[in-house]
Amino acid sequence: MIDPTAPLPPFPDRLAGRIALVTGGASGLGAAIASRLDAEGAKVIVADIDGDGARHHAATLSQCDHAIMLDVTQPDQWQAAIGQVEQRHGRLDILVNNAGITTMGSIETLDYAALRHELDVDVGGVFLGCQTAIPLMKRTGGSIINMASGSGLKASANLVGYNAAKAAVTLMSKSIALHCAQEKYGIRVNSVHPGAIRTPILDKVLAQVDDPEATLAGFLSVHPIGYLGHPDDIAAIVAWLASDESRFATGAAFSVDGGMTAL
Ligand SMILES: NC(=O)c1ccc[n+]([C@@H]2O[C@H](COP(=O)([O-])OP(=O)(O)OC[C@H]3O[C@@H](n4cnc5c(N)ncnc54)[C@H](O)[C@@H]3O)[C@@H](O)[C@H]2O)c1
Repeated sequence: MIDPTAPLPPFPDRLAGRIALVTGGASGLGAAIASRLDAEGAKVIVADIDGDGARHHAATLSQCDHAIMLDVTQPDQWQAAIGQVEQRHGRLDILVNNAGITTMGSIETLDYAALRHELDVDVGGVFLGCQTAIPLMKRTGGSIINMASGSGLKASANLVGYNAAKAAVTLMSKSIALHCAQEKYGIRVNSVHPGAIRTPILDKVLAQVDDPEATLAGFLSVHPIGYLGHPDDIAAIVAWLASDESRFATGAAFSVDGGMTAL
């Protein structure tokens, strides 16, 4: 039987010589992705609104200790971040738009300001990342991986804002993929749709609810495989999408969710 808590070993050198930028790279899935890309040979720039966290995680990487304080909702900060990458490396091969927040609430409880903030971070951040990075990436070609969610494919009554945001990321990724393909930029764009993974964002969700144990049991019940995901499960598919092994994959939505969206 598979041990769902065991780490998944990387493929050394699969990404040798590649330059990667990972947003939300200070914690959770972003940190796991940055570590995996690093272990597979890429030079990784860790970007996060939490600048100290980004620096702290970058210091654990072997290829590069470059960290950027980046609020993905701010166009000028994106310009500065991509400008720095261009100056230091002259290219960007892999962009992982991973930064995101999860706002709980139904149509009757979520206030409009919270909806706007959710969309600003989760949708605006991905839009700005792609728009700012593509001019640099199209010089060499590359891979953009946008972090969506099973919640971008399947609705929950108490996730109206998050559902809207991640559904937007899903189709926006396809639109950007088509544009890049039509323009022959050599840039592939795909979205990844995790089920519930044990990371700080999940703990934040559990902290917002009245009965965390019941909520956790509820999460398990909607994952037919019977367990929650490990950050390596997501880092592994991101590394594959970043690599040439996925060269024919673009405009696709990759679910890694223990069967959640098949239910
Ligand atoms: N953990 C899960 O179960 C799960 C499931 C599906 C999708 N996702 C998605 O995966 C991504 C990462 O989630 P996670 O679980 O690692 O969350 P997390 O809270 O552990 O990490 C999110 C990171 O994003 C950063 N961030 C937040 N707002 C930002 C901003 N405006 N600019 C830059 N950085 C910002 C945070 O500082 C943090 O380091 C998110 O897009 C989330 O929606 C997570």
